[in-house]
Formats: sequence, structure tokens, C-alpha cells
Amino acid sequence: MRVLLAGASGAVGTPLTRQLIAAGHQVVGITRSAANAERLRNAGAEVVVADVMDRGDLLAALRGVAADAVVHQLTNLGTTKIRQARLGTNALRTTGTAHLLEAARAVGAHRFITQSIVFGYGYRDHGPRVITEDAPFGEPIPGTLGTVVAALRSNEEQVFTADEIEGISMRYGFFYGQDAFTRMIVNAVRRRRLAVPTSGGGFGNFIYLDDAAAATVAALEKGRPGQAYNIVDDEPVRFADYVDTLAAELGAPRPRRLPGWVFRAIPYLHAIISTSMRVSNAKAKRELGWTPAVPSYREGLRLVASAMR
Ligand SMILES: NC(=O)c1ccc[n+]([C@@H]2O[C@H](COP(=O)([O-])OP(=O)(O)OC[C@H]3O[C@@H](n4cnc5c(N)ncnc54)[C@H](OP(=O)(O)O)[C@@H]3O)[C@@H](O)[C@H]2O)c1
Repeated sequence: MRVLLAGASGAVGTPLTRQLIAAGHQVVGITRSAANAERLRNAGAEVVVADVMDRGDLLAALRGVAADAVVHQLTNLGTTKIRQARLGTNALRTTGTAHLLEAARAVGAHRFITQSIVFGYGYRDHGPRVITEDAPFGEPIPGTLGTVVAALRSNEEQVFTADEIEGISMRYGFFYGQDAFTRMIVNAVRRRRLAVPTSGGGFGNFIYLDDAAAATVAALEKGRPGQAYNIVDDEPVRFADYVDTLAAELGAPRPRRLPGWVFRAIPYLHAIISTSMRVSNAKAKRELGWTPAVPSYREGLRLVASAMR
């Protein structure tokens, strides 16, 4: 397939570009930057330089480009400014998705894969029940988190209801691997700058970046139109256990414990670490023939530590 990949230079886009090309697909990567364009060409992709938020710029840059599928891997999470990251990512999931659906029509693509995240099931303690794709997703909630959830819902609704488009959504868990964010966590753990709540926090669902990319290739080839797939590994883990395991792998001291209320000073962080869910990847395994090569944080953090030693 010829794949127009928005976000080809990002955390999941980088391994995805590599894996798509290795599987015999052609990649046309969208980036705003000349430096990333160069990197993508070196990886074997063709490149379109455009800002997806600028509809006119995007459609003009795509003139003469043809593709069978569009993959939306855009976020604005590469900034440490939480508000900016949230607003930018919300815009990419609402307006950005609308622009990319127009782009799909312009290039003649009939398949569209979009990036989502398991937090669409709701920022709360879901208890011990296992969450499948049938659970309510994107249900309205008040406040700042409500805008995040509304953007996640808009992203999927647009993709699932677009005329003559086979829309598929990848509801990823937390990414980790050989990316900038994981490196930042590694550095914070080494300097003992990362603390965890005394309670241990909720259960989180992680996915090694190469596995997230492999699931996306599988969804492109085998995913059913109109379906969402949870892309998480086999073992949800409490945040404190995840961070303790990373510290042990790095030979760093055990991270400090702080009372839960201290984390309320950063509401978004507090919402994330107090959310608890056990998400099932059974549908992705069954329908996509995908299985995570890194089945849990134990193997994944060993890989992270050995790469960053
Ligand atoms: N599920 C998760 O846990 C999750 C999900 C996403 C990200 N993250 C984390 O967040 C961190 C940053 O991730 P990331 O590198 O993927 O995100 P990012 O730095 O925000 O970049 C995402 C991609 O989107 C592209 N992009 C953003 N806005 C664009 C626009 N207006 N027009 C065209 N392209 C645009 C960027 O391309 P250019 O800059 O080349 O233009 C880049 O390829 C990573 O550490 C990652 O692990 C986590």
C-alpha cells in the first residue's frame, strides 16, 4: 500500500515508517520541518512538507500525491508545557482529523487509521473489571479533562462516519521505548527526581513503541472498518511498580514516596496516576493477528535500561 503518514517523525511514526517500508509498503511522510524531512528521506520515505493545521497549506502540498491509506499519528506532546500540549493535541484530534480526512479524499485514499488513547474510557478508577473496546469511550465529563475526552471522541466519530472511508482507531496505552519521553523519565529516576504516591497509584497500561507500530501495520492490512482496537501489553501495572522496576534495572535508588495530595498541585498528572484500568488487548490479538513482542513492562524496562546504559 501507499501510505500517507502524518506524524512520521514522531515517537510512534519513526518505528512505524521503518516497519511499513520493511513490510513492502511505500510511505509518504508529512512533516513541518526540513530536518525531519531529511531524516525521513534517509529512512526511505517520500516527504510532504506541510502544517496539517493549515488546511490550504496541506491540500496545496498534497497536489499530485496519491495514496491508498492515511495514518494519523499527530500529537503535540513533545513539549513540557502541559497546557500547550493538551490544547495542541486536542486541536490535532478535532480540526487536524478533519483536515486529514479531506487530505485522504484529495489523494484518493479509502482507508484511515487514527491514533487514540485508552484514557478515552475515562479518567477514574475502573476497579478490577477488564476493559474491552465495548466499554463506553469518550463519555462527557466536566472540566479540562472533559476537553481531552471530547477531542478523543470527535477524532473517532469523524473517522468512523466519514463517507467512503474505512476508519480504524488505535487506542494505545502509554508509550515507552527508545523515545525522548522515556529518556526524560530515565534521567529523572537516576537523579531521584521522580516521586510516586504512597498508595502506588492506579494500574496503567503500557505498550512498547515498536509493538504499537507493529499493531498499526497489522491494522492497516487486516483491521475491520469502523473498529477500535486496544493496543496495550499483557500486564497492567501500578505506576509505583513500573517506576521501581525501572529504577532497579538502572541500578538507581528506589523512587521517593509522597502522600497522594501532593500530586494534586499538578491536576493532569494527578488524574493520570490516580486513574486505574485493566485494558484487554484480546480483540487486537484475535482480529489483527498481532501480539506484543514485549509482553510486559518487565521485559520492556530491561530493554530501555540496557539501551540507555
Ligand atoms: N499513548 C501515549 O502514551 C502517547 C501518545 C503520543 C505521544 N506520546 C509521547 O509523547 C512524546 C512525544 O511524542 P511524539 O514525538 O509522537 O509527539 P510530538 O513530538 O508531538 O510529534 C508528533 C508528530 O506530529 C507531527 N506534528 C505535530 N503537529 C503537526 C502539524 N501541525 N502538522 C504536521 N505534523 C505535525 C510532528 O511532526 P514534525 O514535528 O516533524 O512536523 C511529529 O511527527 C513521546 O515521548 C511519546 O511517547 C505518548
